[in-house]
Amino acid sequence: MDFCIRLASLEDIPKLTTLIPDSARALQADYYTSEQIEGAIGTVFGVDSQLIQDRTYFVAEHNNQIVGCGGWSQRKTLYGGDSGKNNQEDSLLNPDSDSAKIRAFFVDPARARQGIGSQIIQSCELAAERAGFKDVETIATLAGEPFYTKFGYRAIEQFEIPLPNNQFLPVVRMFKTFLCSR
Ligand SMILES: CC(C)(COP(=O)(O)OP(=O)(O)OC[C@H]1O[C@@H](n2cnc3c(N)ncnc32)[C@H](O)[C@@H]1OP(=O)(O)O)[C@@H](O)C(=O)NCCC(=O)NCCS
Repeated sequence: MDFCIRLASLEDIPKLTTLIPDSARALQADYYTSEQIEGAIGTVFGVDSQLIQDRTYFVAEHNNQIVGCGGWSQRKTLYGGDSGKNNQEDSLLNPDSDSAKIRAFFVDPARARQGIGSQIIQSCELAAERAGFKDVETIATLAGEPFYTKFGYRAIEQFEIPLPNNQFLPVVRMFKTFLCSR
């Protein structure tokens, strides 16, 4: 399948707001209960418009349709969409001492395993490295863990995110350094 990667714009948000739940419900069904997925949609699985404004969020397009999204961040927030934020300031990281964050990867379930996530993560890592970061970290879903492992990320911690519907979402904190990987 041919697709192109471009920076996301604020006008993409309505389409992303459909793509993200569709992706989570289909591609995470083997890893989480429907209660966990529904509890995470919006707060944990959602658009962080700060990344779009920072020009660090990408979409994949095929025939004018958005078929995937994902980004990186030079800010402290580790995960979550706009509705999971409490209006607190999301301060900038220091590339000399902090890891850039890999954020919010979601692919159209009809287009999974066709290399979309791979292209986006390569764009993110290149941009983070060009911004001066020496490593990256992510809070991976259990569904995302094999994908990040393929790209050289290693699991460093497992924990659970409390959800608004009183469920808990098990996730894995993963880390990758650029220093010896290129
Ligand atoms: C994780 C996700 C973004 C991967 O996107 P994708 O476009 O399907 O990934 P790619 O096709 O680029 O896969 C690259 C490699 O990652 C690994 N991988 C991807 N999905 C995998 C899966 N479900 N199981 C095992 N390995 C997987 C494979 O090694 C794959 O290479 P291969 O297909 O040649 O075997 C996608 O599955 C998704 O949107 N999942 C639901 C949302 C989610 O949980 N996102 C993670 C947020 S932390």
